[in-house]
Amino acid sequence: MPVSAERRAELRQALTKLYDEVPCNPIMVRLGWHDAGTYDAESKTGGANASIRFDPEVTHGANAGLKWAIEKLQPIKDQFPDISYADLYQYASITAIAHAGGPKIPFRFGRPDAKDEDCTPDGRLPDANKGASHLRGDVFHRMGLTDKDIVALSGAHALGRGHKDRSGFEGPWTSEPLKFDNEYFSNVLAPKDDLLCLPSDKALASDPEFRPFVEKYATDKDAFFADYAVSHQKLSELGVKWTDSADAEATTD
Ligand code: HEM
Repeated sequence: MPVSAERRAELRQALTKLYDEVPCNPIMVRLGWHDAGTYDAESKTGGANASIRFDPEVTHGANAGLKWAIEKLQPIKDQFPDISYADLYQYASITAIAHAGGPKIPFRFGRPDAKDEDCTPDGRLPDANKGASHLRGDVFHRMGLTDKDIVALSGAHALGRGHKDRSGFEGPWTSEPLKFDNEYFSNVLAPKDDLLCLPSDKALASDPEFRPFVEKYATDKDAFFADYAVSHQKLSELGVKWTDSADAEATTD
């Protein structure tokens, strides 16, 4: 049975209640991204399958801090046994973005959950100390995503912050880290002393293919939101082998 509109609304309400009580929108977006972002288009392994909930994967260095997010969602999973973990992690992310004032992202339920033997090897997520060729060649093109997707999706750094004890980086990228907007891109073009700009963020401004997208998104929030929604939907569906009862198509809340 596909997820009914009523059930979908109940799940959205449960997540909204969580975000009203605990401002954990950023880490939920990071959770969804780190689950999906392991996809390898060639071997068709990884992707949005909730393998991140198992120890071999959640203990990878890049996932530091995400166990907290997984545990925070468990009571909601208990309330919604009919929703897979893989759907829950992605729906928690798009709901967090909308809750923070970001774009509404089309969503389709029906991701099956991976087993622990499906965990991907360490090293598929990006290294913040590296530049454009790493972002492209080692990571996003491997997933089947484009240069435009890389820049648009990096705009998710509108939300949240670095934590010294997790990544070694500290502080927010923008002046309002619980608001999803396009300020990130202006800060990438002109880094501020008191805001975070990772070497991988700076690479977006220095690379000749990436930069035009950064410039466009810095001045045109609507264009950023429209492109972000498209790229994020792609990310949220990477590697998914839809169940027989999956929604026939994505819908927007
Ligand atoms: C382009 C390559 C990327 C690199 C190198 C990168 C790196 C990082 C690093 C180092 C952190 C700090 C983690 C911490 O200390 O807590 C972080 C946080 C975050 N990242 Fe990324 N990231 C990338 C792309 C993305 C994408 C594609 C998304 C989502 C679509 C995303 C969403 C987030 C969010 C929301 C946070 C804040 C988490 C929090 O506040 O707890 N990132 N990222």
